[in-house]
Amino acid sequence: MRLSPVLTGLRTYPFVRLTEARQRLAAAGVPVIDFGIGEPREETPAFIREALARSIEPRSRYPLAEGLPSLRAAIAGWAQRRFGVSLDPDAEVMPTLGSKEAVFHLAHVLDGDLVVVPQPAYPVYERGAVFAGKQVVELPLEAGAGFLPDLEAVSGEVWERTAILWLNYPNNPTAATAPLELYERAAALAREHDFVVASDEAYSELYFGAEPPVSALQVSDRTNMAVFNTLSKRSSMPGYRSGFVAGDRALVAALKRYRPNVGVAPLEFVQLAAVAAWGDEEHVAAVRETYRAKRDVLLPALEARGLRHAGGDATFFLWLEGAPDGFHERLLERGVILTPGSYFGAAGEGYLRLALVPTLDECRRAAETIAGAFVEPAP
Ligand SMILES: Cc1ncc(COP(=O)(O)O)c(C=O)c1O
Repeated sequence: MRLSPVLTGLRTYPFVRLTEARQRLAAAGVPVIDFGIGEPREETPAFIREALARSIEPRSRYPLAEGLPSLRAAIAGWAQRRFGVSLDPDAEVMPTLGSKEAVFHLAHVLDGDLVVVPQPAYPVYERGAVFAGKQVVELPLEAGAGFLPDLEAVSGEVWERTAILWLNYPNNPTAATAPLELYERAAALAREHDFVVASDEAYSELYFGAEPPVSALQVSDRTNMAVFNTLSKRSSMPGYRSGFVAGDRALVAALKRYRPNVGVAPLEFVQLAAVAAWGDEEHVAAVRETYRAKRDVLLPALEARGLRHAGGDATFFLWLEGAPDGFHERLLERGVILTPGSYFGAAGEGYLRLALVPTLDECRRAAETIAGAFVEPAP
């Protein structure tokens, strides 16, 4: 069979190695506490599950790609309350099947042969670009710059050929947040060179500082801006697959033309559960408190071993530097799995990413393991 060279040319997803490690540990009977993959494991709140169950109709029909008007209105209402922005639900909002597919597909909708992707980054920006036949330009995120990109380091010729600039704050994997000025500058460059700024805000609701993160929706002119968000992290709904794209109405109109071809219309009973989820903030505050408690248990244990969280006060990730030699391997032997930063590309070398997704009890046990793993046995 002649497979797509793009598919056969992909590097193995490095996270496969974590799955292999998990299997090895299970076979050896070692109990595993997995801080590797960033999949939320909290319970989906009961009122959301009930909204889904209530919404299942006796007859099933095809959902429309543009989503239910009630969900578009719920998303616009949330954006108004959360960011103080006014979105036209019919022209500036598009519900999506989670945000990953929408992130992947964006490069298929836009012209221009380059996609500018931060490094390190969530791998789907790059994967979507290469499947769409575009070339990736890497934009380094460095600790010294607060893990913000230097947009001025990209030449005008590159911007002229660019289809998309990806930004992702709060950031996976570094946990950094961005100021509104970054979005304003990106938006100005996007208008000047006619590319799209795609702002992936999947972690916007998981923050631990006093001020909630800003959104790219808050820029003074939303021309060429696209914001992606999701209920996966905010409402612990990764399996529901419910997200949205909002922004420039010309882009939303293009998505309305493109998406019926792909078969990614969100299921209607999930959309109705999503209406309930976007309408409530109480459960989101509770989700934040859960992750905060886990941070408070693990950070001191890690700091006592000389590690430091290098990133910001948001997301459910810790981006750790200063690990003693063999730290990751030693924890792995004891069933505690972290992700080496190198899995996110060369820019992640020297860091470890810890996703605060195990239960609080497991975090407490892991904190004890972190303490115990480095106590040398008495001679
Ligand atoms: C940065 C980032 N963006 C987007 C997603 C996709 O989330 P979902 O497809 O569940 O909405 C993830 C999931 O891990 C992520 O880390």
